Amino acid sequence: MVSKRLTRVEESATMKMGSIAKKLQAEGKSVLNFSLGEPDFKTPGHICEAAKRALDFGYTHYVSSAGVDELREAIAGKIREENEVDVSAENVIVTPGAKQAIYELMMSVLDDGDEVILLDPAWVTFESAVKLAGGNPKWVKRLEEEVNYESLESAVSENTKLIVINSPNNPAGYVLSETEQKEIAEFAVDHDLLVLSDEIYEKIIYGRKHVSIASFDGMQARTVIINGFSKTYAMTGWRIGYAVAPAEILKGMLKIQQHSVSCAPSIAQSAALTALSSPQDCVNEMVEQFKRRRDVIVKRLNEIGLRCLNPEGAFYAFVNTSNHGNDVEFTERLLKEAYIVVTPGSAFGLAGKNYVRFSFAASIEDILEGMGRIEKLYG
Ligand SMILES: Cc1ncc(COP(=O)(O)O)c(C=O)c1O
Repeated sequence: MVSKRLTRVEESATMKMGSIAKKLQAEGKSVLNFSLGEPDFKTPGHICEAAKRALDFGYTHYVSSAGVDELREAIAGKIREENEVDVSAENVIVTPGAKQAIYELMMSVLDDGDEVILLDPAWVTFESAVKLAGGNPKWVKRLEEEVNYESLESAVSENTKLIVINSPNNPAGYVLSETEQKEIAEFAVDHDLLVLSDEIYEKIIYGRKHVSIASFDGMQARTVIINGFSKTYAMTGWRIGYAVAPAEILKGMLKIQQHSVSCAPSIAQSAALTALSSPQDCVNEMVEQFKRRRDVIVKRLNEIGLRCLNPEGAFYAFVNTSNHGNDVEFTERLLKEAYIVVTPGSAFGLAGKNYVRFSFAASIEDILEGMGRIEKLYG
């Protein structure tokens, strides 16, 4: 009944783990869910107030498909100032979530059989979007080893169209070094490739500064920055993301947006404008809390003997399970014997096979309780 295209794509592993957690909770089990891909904080009050005002003004209709002008201007201003890329509002499309921007980009630039280089492990949506658009993913490992010109060379062919990078990274928590970004940029220029740079965790970064690959020589014309409000402002349910792209690509994405979702939600765009144009203290406070949680979870995991690199960004600890079986065995044991939900690393690519992803978008109390339960199993 379903299309051949759809059979190329799996159900989202994180969402699957989330629903298992909910089911166990409904059965009255004391479940600790470390599989969430969203901040556990409430959306800051001043952003919610902006949405209420938009409702009271009757701002409840379709808006322009590419996004509300003031928001596009504000996003372009932010990109110029913080990411050092010379763009205007014409380069910005506001989408119902960054995910939709990723689909629109893949649908705009890929033909059947085109190849896309993904860094392994990678957030699953990239692979699904490539496949749904008719493309084929080619993997380059980037986990405990850095990516470089040679490793990219091993995956390129005459059909390669695009490289996807995501720094700070979901699921591995790394931040690409400047040298890596430079080599990726040189490689893209030499092979005339586009780069999708998913920068949605740019603000959730610990002791480093985010640098956009679009600011490197020759890169603006071939980079599509994907970003959004979900993670920075704890606004996952509002569904506001955006892409910053060269004009021709943006036109393609806009066509798809017009014929699919029409526009991103009007009320949520008002809230997003307030988020961007207000003082950023709320962001700093959330990041401070993420950092504290990161320090606690990494210390405890390593004490228990579960090796884990120190995440430099995002809110995920990618933990090596090889002393205790593969990722799927480890995940099942945690679930059955400790009611702890994590995501098996193989859901993110082959390189994740002996890893699991712990999201530390959870309270310190839950993290400590969870680590205590794991210590009883493995300590
Ligand atoms: C790398 C990455 N990009 C994008 C998203 C989704 O963003 P949005 O909520 O704006 O669709 C996620 C969510 O998990 C993510 O991890």
